[in-house]
Amino acid sequence: MIIFKKPLALHEFLGRKKVKHQTGFVPTMGALHAGHVSLLNAAKKENDLAVASIFINPTQFNDPEDFKKYPITLDKDIAMVEDAGCDVLFLPPVKDIYVTGTTNLEHYDLGFLETVLEGKYRPGHFQGVCQVVHRLLEIVLPHNLYLGQKDYQQCMVIKKLVELIGLDKKIKINICPTLREPDGLAMSSRNTRLSRVDRAKATTISAGLRYIKENIKPGEINCYTDKMKHMLLNNGFDKIDYVEVANADTLHLVEHWNGSEKIVALAAAFLNDVRLIDNMVINP
Ligand code: PAJ
Repeated sequence: MIIFKKPLALHEFLGRKKVKHQTGFVPTMGALHAGHVSLLNAAKKENDLAVASIFINPTQFNDPEDFKKYPITLDKDIAMVEDAGCDVLFLPPVKDIYVTGTTNLEHYDLGFLETVLEGKYRPGHFQGVCQVVHRLLEIVLPHNLYLGQKDYQQCMVIKKLVELIGLDKKIKINICPTLREPDGLAMSSRNTRLSRVDRAKATTISAGLRYIKENIKPGEINCYTDKMKHMLLNNGFDKIDYVEVANADTLHLVEHWNGSEKIVALAAAFLNDVRLIDNMVINP
């Protein structure tokens, strides 16, 4: 595996390789787990060249405490990326991604997507995601981009970004299923910040989504989301940002379900200061 730190060196290297090789790209913020590895495996299997990046993107943290506490396990991450058979790892310093600094940046018109769910509760977050993904895509210019369904709304934002920057004909977006712990908790870098007691409680978020998925019937659906909110609060979650059901393609919130519309249940809630998100498509 070759490690690059300089964007230009990576861009030129890949430019030469891409003449003959199909490339797959997995952007990450490190603190890797099996969920990330599943994306790396897909990139390796479906391409001649698998490229990963590890970059803790300062502009996507709307909460400075979350940024400060974001787990860093670089040596372990490098070994995991190499073990997954990745060919190239990109580890850029912040100054080479944000050459003119992190203020007064371009604004991406994400429209409705930025006003609901994660967009509503994490103002500026998706602008930050777009800032970094735009830069990474211009550097790597992969044929295939691999993203996790765990971040359902992020996948939709990045799809929109790729259209906005005119790369939608060149880059195919591949969405990989959410990997879960045996008790159902969606794997996440932030899980390592949970205390042992909170780790046991955390499973309620996937149990609640499964409750909605297995019980929801056509008609008014508030009773299912309300029930999940009660489950979370009764099991030690201290704050809920949202528990919602939305159209799976547009993320418009659904209050009355006709039984055939494709929908997804999504939730974000806190255990102490650790914010967990998860989602389940109801009728794939
Ligand atoms: P990060 O949280 O490190 O996630 C990197 C990729 O791994 C994302 O596409 C995410 O959806 C996927 N992923 C996370 N947990 C997963 C799981 N349990 N199963 C499957 N895939 C999972 O998402 C980001 O970083 C950043 O926002 C990034 C896109 C890199 C931009 O900075």
